[in-house]
Amino acid sequence: MADKEISLNRGLQGVYLDRTNTTFIDGKEGVLEYSGYNIHDLAENSNFEETSYLLMYGELPNQKQLDEFDASLKNARVLPQQAYDVIDIVKDSHPMDVLRTTISTLSSFDEDRDDFSEDAIIRKGIRLTSQVPIIVMAHNRMRKGLDPIESSKTLPHAANFLYMLEGEEPSEDTAKLMDTDFVVHADHGCNASAFTTRVVTGTNADFYGSITAGIAALSGPSHGGAAEGVMELAKDVGTPENAAAHVKNLLANRERVMGFGHRVYKAADPRAKHLKDGVKKLSEEKGETAWYEILLAVQEAMTPYARRGIHANVDFFAGAVYYLIGIPQDLFVPIFAVGRIPGWTIQILEQMRHNILIRPLLQYTGERSKEYIPITKRD
Ligand code: ACO
Repeated sequence: MADKEISLNRGLQGVYLDRTNTTFIDGKEGVLEYSGYNIHDLAENSNFEETSYLLMYGELPNQKQLDEFDASLKNARVLPQQAYDVIDIVKDSHPMDVLRTTISTLSSFDEDRDDFSEDAIIRKGIRLTSQVPIIVMAHNRMRKGLDPIESSKTLPHAANFLYMLEGEEPSEDTAKLMDTDFVVHADHGCNASAFTTRVVTGTNADFYGSITAGIAALSGPSHGGAAEGVMELAKDVGTPENAAAHVKNLLANRERVMGFGHRVYKAADPRAKHLKDGVKKLSEEKGETAWYEILLAVQEAMTPYARRGIHANVDFFAGAVYYLIGIPQDLFVPIFAVGRIPGWTIQILEQMRHNILIRPLLQYTGERSKEYIPITKRD
């Protein structure tokens, strides 16, 4: 087909794939809403449990519904022994690889494995929402030769996640910040990982296959891997005074400044504000403001790029939150996945509700109609 007849959208940029009732994003104005509720309202007033319900069911719960949902999440705080065995086998890999492999394993032990009904997908989503934090934290302990810390049966989701780090209950402020981080990461439209879950679901593959593929997509530095890269950047910068020169140097070498830029947001990423406020507060509480000051200086150095639509994204301040809490750097991407399970669950459900095979085209630009020469006659 002639070039002019083909509308080529590399990276599917600007292409609408389907309709959704879940997440609204206005990249020009910097607006994000889950099921019609503004992310600022949710970050300030909701919590991860309620936001997860909102995403999975499309409306805010009443107290009884939330209590039941919360009880289901808490009841699901358990991993089959086989999952621990798998973690042990692969424990020397990157935590994202361990998470991917273990989630894939879980499909074999799910009582709803062959049930593709909507209720079963929700049950799987609830279970996995509770199991992913256990996998991440159990692996973190096991790779150091330590026993995993059993989940609390009573702590909220975010506090329980931090509790499993070393068996200490986090302060209320720290738990709230972690919770806010999960809320702002809970869904984000058709980004690379959500798109991946939809592509896999489009073939009528199972829930765990879709999530496993989503985890793989999330692990790359252009997507979830950025938070880890931001702390590397902050360490390389070293002091706020070095930020301008360091950034200038990166840009001169056409390197990416991690934690900046976004495919959809060309205005400020509305999620970043909440984590920025959180880093500021946490830094002051801990009397350790150096990282916050370095990040502010990097943000200042990037100000001229705001005109080109390059702003700090959600990951820019997330890394510092995790670092100050004392979470190892290679768990930063898995934390993203901890928050994203409810979002992937609804993406899979929406895809299933009126499923279609996702199968775009590639424009062929190679040679054609070449003569096949037997191997004995090739140069
Ligand atoms: N640092 C420097 N320049 C940048 C950055 C950045 N972080 N982001 C974009 N640009 C520049 C590009 O160099 C390019 O410039 P050019 O037109 O002169 O070549 C222009 O902005 C457009 O960049 P694209 O890569 O085409 O934009 P795209 O929308 O595809 O990129 C992406 C989005 C991949 C996130 C990019 O901004 C990036 O690599 N950022 C750094 C990694 C990062 O923070 N990822 C997290 C994203 S948020 C998330 O997943 C939660």
